[in-house]
Amino acid sequence: MVTFPGSAVGAEAEVLAAQLQSFMQANPDIRVVQRVTPDAADQRHQLYVQWLNAWAPDPDILQLDVIWAPEFAAAGWLLPLDGRLGDDADFFPATMEANTWQGQLYAVPWFLDVGMLYWRTDLLDAAPATLSELKAAAAEARASGQVSYGWVWQGARYEGLVTVFLELLASHGGSMLDRNGDVAVDSPAGVRALTDLCDAVEQGLSPRESLTWHEEETRFAFQMGRALFMRNWPYAYALMERGDDSRVAGRFDVAPMPAGEQGRSAATLGGAQLAINARSDVPEEAWRLIEFLTHPDRMIERARAAGNLPPRPSLYERDELRAALPMPAESIQRVVEHAVARPATPVYTQLSLILQLSLHRALSGQQEPEAALSDAARKMRRALARFGLPGSEPAAPESAL
Ligand code: GLC
Repeated sequence: MVTFPGSAVGAEAEVLAAQLQSFMQANPDIRVVQRVTPDAADQRHQLYVQWLNAWAPDPDILQLDVIWAPEFAAAGWLLPLDGRLGDDADFFPATMEANTWQGQLYAVPWFLDVGMLYWRTDLLDAAPATLSELKAAAAEARASGQVSYGWVWQGARYEGLVTVFLELLASHGGSMLDRNGDVAVDSPAGVRALTDLCDAVEQGLSPRESLTWHEEETRFAFQMGRALFMRNWPYAYALMERGDDSRVAGRFDVAPMPAGEQGRSAATLGGAQLAINARSDVPEEAWRLIEFLTHPDRMIERARAAGNLPPRPSLYERDELRAALPMPAESIQRVVEHAVARPATPVYTQLSLILQLSLHRALSGQQEPEAALSDAARKMRRALARFGLPGSEPAAPESAL
């Protein structure tokens, strides 16, 4: 028996269940059992850490967020996968780097996430190219009563908020760590990015209640027709285009996030990876399942059913993928080109937790953006020093893929 964590909802859950079923038909000697895990990134992380800290052999396979592999690998929780993938492995280099720690590969990319701007094609002729255009359009649509919200994003205190902030930060020319690995969130670009978000809440463009929202609450607001713009991952597209409960089917499109002061647009790189629990009693069976699920054909099925983007570059040249994706391949390509990876460090979770607190304090009006970020930067520097680790900003943050 191989245990597999299931955090999928809706179409993703259905396609996964079907794929696990066909794996079992093709491999009658292996039974796959799903373990239920929460959807929100931080809650999932907490549960995994509890399992793994207790050296539990179950679940055998771990679905990792793109930022977890260094932390889990450094803790000795993952089985090294070197030698299992051929040299010609067809994955975007940024996703392979994210899954590598001290020269060893620990996880196989499963699907890719990029932050993108969903916009209402029935209310606007074109997506805003800059943040100022976005804010102006959002204010106008609210003033005319067309929508209650201008711009919705993930504002709860969790990893999603960090991804929103880092996108804006990169669009203003900043990054979480600088090229020497030092913390850089308190840069002028950082203050600008956080001020943008605070202003949006202050001016009512983004609803105050969104300071408790994750991906799904944001999607519900947009698919009810209540917002002009939404920042979210690709998964939302298929659900809003096909769902019976969607009021915006056929009335929205996706675009790269608008450019900030440096004239740059950025998309946080996210996504899921599959790894093997170092304590698994059935690592070979687990590997057979990972190979099956990360096969190009399974990725095309996921793209068709749930709009998940494959992390295999060669698939983007295939008409089959273009036909399978629920959104225009050109829109995706433009977003993917602007992908920015988060730092690959075992301390990432600590850095993010510190940053989340400060971002949220500023957004809820308890601290000015500048003070909040300088507090965060100080604590983040201390966390890095405590681990005796320099940070490492990915080599080419402006073009991760
Ligand atoms: C998505 C992304 C992941 C990110 C998370 C934040 O699941 O794939 O990388 O950390 O959202 O909420």
